[in-house]
Amino acid sequence: MSTLAIQGCQWGDEGKGKITDYCASKADVVVRSQGGNNAGHSIVHQGQRYALRLLPSGIFNPRVVNVLSDGVVINPWGLLEEIDGVKKAGVTSFQLLISNRAQIVMPYDVDLDHARELALGNAKIGTTGRGIGPTYEDMASRTGIRMGDLLEPHYLKERLHEVLFIKNKELEAFGAKTYEEDELYAKLLALVPLLGDYIQDTSSFLSKCLGEKKKILFEGAQGAMLDIIHGTYPYVTSSSPLSNAIPFYCGIPVNSVENTLGIVKAYTTRVGAGPFPSEILDVDKAHIIREKGHEYGTVTKRPRRIGWIDCAELRYVKSLTGVHDVALMLLDVLGDLDEIKICNGYVLDGVSIDTMPSTVEAVGRLEAKYLSLPSWKGDISSVKRYEDLPPEAKNYIATIENLTGFHIVMVSVGPDKEETIIRKEVF
Ligand code: GDP
Ligand code: IMO
Ligand code: MG
Repeated sequence: MSTLAIQGCQWGDEGKGKITDYCASKADVVVRSQGGNNAGHSIVHQGQRYALRLLPSGIFNPRVVNVLSDGVVINPWGLLEEIDGVKKAGVTSFQLLISNRAQIVMPYDVDLDHARELALGNAKIGTTGRGIGPTYEDMASRTGIRMGDLLEPHYLKERLHEVLFIKNKELEAFGAKTYEEDELYAKLLALVPLLGDYIQDTSSFLSKCLGEKKKILFEGAQGAMLDIIHGTYPYVTSSSPLSNAIPFYCGIPVNSVENTLGIVKAYTTRVGAGPFPSEILDVDKAHIIREKGHEYGTVTKRPRRIGWIDCAELRYVKSLTGVHDVALMLLDVLGDLDEIKICNGYVLDGVSIDTMPSTVEAVGRLEAKYLSLPSWKGDISSVKRYEDLPPEAKNYIATIENLTGFHIVMVSVGPDKEETIIRKEVF
């Protein structure tokens, strides 16, 4: 298999970073196709934990070319901080390419993100506050500034003049501070000596790699239920985290993604507002899982909401993406419980349904139907072979496979690369 997409199958934070890092040792190229520094991918590299936001998870491997493609929204100042962070950690030789078509998250986009959330009051989305939504709005409303513009100072100046007029009007409407054109222009120009060498046409780079049969890993960000169209709208992010969208965001043919590996947490988490049918409302029970799984946002440090695995939601994601092979993550976390529940369908207004309603109002009214399984009551983090898992753990895995039609090809039993059980190599 020479191309593989990593697909988050829940509401993000499924453990995509760990699996991308695991697969990156076999990759020539690792690509982020969408999202921005709203993502937070934790990786344990040589015993040390790193939180990557924009940098692809292949950054620790000097042979890998890491690509931030056309569909990614880039906060260049955040990116520079991240590059500094990995350099300080001793990673000096890395390869990075930034698309000339990638949108820049401008300082006013971050301000507008905060201003909008404030204006929404109780209906706020609970965004990461990184300006992601406003930047994708800039792209769609054709008022964005792109990384390639930095390399053409005269055009950049004209462009900034045009768009800042509109953006300042929006900022004024929210009572937020406005921006001075010359100052912002100088701030953007100062990026050129720092980032200019990384900027290029990544779409043609990737086409060339595809032609040469290079091994390309597409690192997903966010999760399917945060998809701008098919997720729990409007409590979603502003791009499509579905593997279906990778060719579009990267500027490559539709058949470029040969296989998709779904990443599924052994339970479910959600950070931010919005409906969550299998949420565990018992605060003490949720607390046990949250603490054992360190379920606090990588980017915002917010405590993540905790729920049981939801096979109805996973079947929906299977129908959206066609994902078949799956890595089941954080299974070790469930070892301390007496009972583990699995949501396997919903009741809406007294009627059983197995589809995802389109409004969050209806998703919020869903009652989850559960099966209950016994836990294995023990530490499985040192288990290396599937056969050596306790029977209750194998039963849990087989039940999820039966209810979803997924084939669980990897089982993760700890944050380290070594704490991974491989049933089938997919890359
Ligand atoms: P991502 O956004 O999908 O990359 O996931 P995050 O990095 O935000 O969250 C996953 C968290 O789980 C990180 O803290 C990982 O280090 C951790 N993790 C990944 N796999 C496992 C596992 O199998 N067991 C445990 N206990 N932690 C894991
Ligand atoms: P990774 O890649 C979890 C959520 C936010 C909020 C909603 C919109 O680490 O899995 P945004 O800032 O994107 O406009 O926020 O989306 N969100 C994530 N939740 N993991 C992520 O990324 C997320 N990226 C965005 O919490 O609910
Ligand atoms: Mg994350």
